Amino acid sequence: METGDRNGDDIMSAILVIFGGTGDLTHRKLMPALYNLVLDKLLPENFAVVAVGRRDKTEDEYKKDIYDSVNKHSRNKIDAAIWHKLQNMIHYYQFDFTNMEGFQGLKEYLNQLDQTAGTEGNRVFYLAVAPEYFETIVHGIQISDMANKEGAWSRLVIEKPFGKDLMTARKLNNKILEVFPEKSIYRIDHYLGKEMIQNIMVLRFCNSIFESIWNNKFIDNVQISLTEKLGVGTRGGYYEHSGAMRDMIQNHIIQILTLVAMEPPTNLKTDSIRTEKQKVLEAIEEITPEFLRDNVVFGQYGPGIIDGEPVPGYRQELNVPRDSSTETFVALKLHINNFRWAGIPFYIRTGKRLAKSSAEIVIQFKDLPNILYFKDEEIQEPNLLVLRIQPNVGVFFQFNTKDFTSHHGIVPTKMDTSSFQPMQGNTPEAYERLIYDILRGDATLFSRWDEVEAAWTVADRLIAYREQKKSSFPNYDAGSMGPVRSFELLAKDGRKWWHV
Ligand code: BG6
Repeated sequence: METGDRNGDDIMSAILVIFGGTGDLTHRKLMPALYNLVLDKLLPENFAVVAVGRRDKTEDEYKKDIYDSVNKHSRNKIDAAIWHKLQNMIHYYQFDFTNMEGFQGLKEYLNQLDQTAGTEGNRVFYLAVAPEYFETIVHGIQISDMANKEGAWSRLVIEKPFGKDLMTARKLNNKILEVFPEKSIYRIDHYLGKEMIQNIMVLRFCNSIFESIWNNKFIDNVQISLTEKLGVGTRGGYYEHSGAMRDMIQNHIIQILTLVAMEPPTNLKTDSIRTEKQKVLEAIEEITPEFLRDNVVFGQYGPGIIDGEPVPGYRQELNVPRDSSTETFVALKLHINNFRWAGIPFYIRTGKRLAKSSAEIVIQFKDLPNILYFKDEEIQEPNLLVLRIQPNVGVFFQFNTKDFTSHHGIVPTKMDTSSFQPMQGNTPEAYERLIYDILRGDATLFSRWDEVEAAWTVADRLIAYREQKKSSFPNYDAGSMGPVRSFELLAKDGRKWWHV
């Protein structure tokens, strides 16, 4: 039984079953998030975590490893009493999930644990494993009939990538739907857990000064930039088949785009919001050969210098072929052909090994006529509203005022409410909020299937274009802000990327 949106805390009791219990995600993100949820008293009393792993470990050894990880990655220092509470909830269950017979044993183990933990048969199955195992695990859950407990609910949490193109995503989705209904599937996009991403709707729909001018009459263009100094590090094997399109655009960036561009939903119910987001995707302009030729720039980093240190090019990274044509940078311009946005360009940019790590949305407003001021050679600085997602979190606004130091000068005044929060500081880290929402049964911050499908439809066309195009990679130096053509993309429209 699944009860839909925003369940009360009383039915949060559950066992969280983590497939990939010894993996990186569990160590770096999930367990530290659980620790902070215990600290903030946001976990139910009746709660257990079963970490499923292949490795031969005793439960004590496992807990010791988790202690070290929480100690290293938690935003709060470990407090003995809080750790004690968390470690009482954690159980290690050793089993190889490619062995289908093992699922029956896990099912019985969970049923027994219900008795001692008081978890009433409720389950969250979290797939923190490599994507090639998603279907295998869902199949194991299916044949052991683990997700169907009378009077209880089961939810599936699945990390990205959800498929590697539209076809594989559909196949995976169909498999999952044999076991879980759509409303019980939580497709994670960790960007949606970030404070400022959640703030987009609040800023837009709680401020008349913003919402009334949030359209093509007042806005000149919108820029979404997610840039990273980091290279692919040890993830070359994964990234080589993913590239920036699958790694960032198909999910994080498209999610941000829909939140910036959507119409106000009729209420805050999960499906009302998701439906408005979906409409944005439907309105994205058609991706024609001309669009691909004129509006898309791909890049790949060569060697360069970051923070004074030499770093290798993408093709020199571990597990990356020396002639790789995978893109580590994408810039594109697109239009959303609906009443609100017709004619307004959205410029999107993401890349690795760039000069700075930051995630920002810039709204550039239209200039006023240069009749009273800014005559002759003077340049009118535009009004800019910047939603700073990270590492600074907050809002920046630029507007023109008289220069008090001169008789008639005009200067842009910059108002910045943001503060530097390298780990998003003391605001809850993305996974804390996401795990909490999963337990509450609130799927608002997760992607619905039609959103994923529409995002793949756009991404597939761009990926196919990149694959059939002869690349002249590398085409930007590590430590730069990407290929020259990315700047030309805006320059030919008389615009530029803003760094404020
Ligand atoms: C992940 C990508 O989804 O997001 C990574 O797989 C990327 O390649 C990361 O580095 C960026 O996330 P964040 O939260 O560090 O901006």
